Amino acid sequence: MDNQQPKKKVLSCIQPTGTPTLGNYFGALKNWKLMGEECDAAFAVADLHAITVRQDPKEFKKQIMQMYALLLALGLDEQNNIVFVQSHVPEHSQLAWILNCYTQFGEMSRMTQFKDKSIKHADNVNVGLFSYPVLMAADILLYKADYVPVGVDQKQHLEITRDIAERFNGIYGNVFTVPEPYIGKKGAKITSLQDPTKKMSKSDTNTKSFISILDKPETIVKKMKSAVTDSEACVRFDEENKPGVSNLMTIYSCCTGASFEEIENEFASKGYGDFKQKVGEAVVEELRPVQQEMERIMKDEKYIKERMAQNAEIASRIAHRTLEKVMKKIGYVQI
Ligand code: TYM
Repeated sequence: MDNQQPKKKVLSCIQPTGTPTLGNYFGALKNWKLMGEECDAAFAVADLHAITVRQDPKEFKKQIMQMYALLLALGLDEQNNIVFVQSHVPEHSQLAWILNCYTQFGEMSRMTQFKDKSIKHADNVNVGLFSYPVLMAADILLYKADYVPVGVDQKQHLEITRDIAERFNGIYGNVFTVPEPYIGKKGAKITSLQDPTKKMSKSDTNTKSFISILDKPETIVKKMKSAVTDSEACVRFDEENKPGVSNLMTIYSCCTGASFEEIENEFASKGYGDFKQKVGEAVVEELRPVQQEMERIMKDEKYIKERMAQNAEIASRIAHRTLEKVMKKIGYVQI
């Protein structure tokens, strides 16, 4: 990166709903780490988004702590990057309300994730679920992010963020930076181990379908061994006809850095049993340092809360500046 240029800004968030999966890890968290090394980054635990689905209070608190500890364990707070909890910075909710008033009902109705989630949680199709992407837009725009590293499933939400930012700028002048999604070439859509046509999701009721970042080594290998493949018995990358094998190859490639061609050669004369065993072992090695660091941090609740408080203060300062500018432009009385 050119030293003369100011560093690019990056923001991304993750919901504390269940332990993150390999999908979250390769689709988002690993890229967060890489981008955090080159850019001015802010990463958050999106606990406000999480209540669009009913949460058990005790469990919810534990999951927020755990997700935050995980972000620390990944070293995301290095190089002066901010790692915070969304609900600790009230400007997110405040800007979200304002942006709600600059977002059309029709454009929100087109969001595929809203449609999917309304079917999945048919007994609780709340207004928060509907305006969920507007809160995401607030998260991103408050920090003037140039790039937002996400998996493929969030692409549509990034598009609406851009639309909202451009609309607001069109009315009031250059207030918001219009962000771009950053979607990694590999790992942007890790699929379910049991149904490789679906994305791997931490909320899947079939626990064999996903690998959680905190799964024990023997569980990881066992889940890999039960992954759905096909009857061809040939390790070859072909997402359309061999989605299961292609998914495992992607995971292996993300862990080892090997290209698909190298993986095909490595397993040319071997069966799926050997292949799955090797993928499982590679995942175990990839996650080992994160799991060890996470275990260490989780023992120290005081430390976690101190880091939360310090980071919330820094995040608030940035967020407040943007919110104030927005409110001034709209015509609110400043006191
Ligand atoms: P969430 O918590 O569902 O997922 C966090 C990140 O992980 C990515 N991801 C995947 N990537 C590849 N393969 C998969 N199977 C997979 N599953 C999840 C997601 O794309 C995401 O990048 N709405 C967001 C959280 C959010 C946010 C934001 C993101 C709130 N505010 C502002 C970016 C910017 C969400 O629910 O992610």
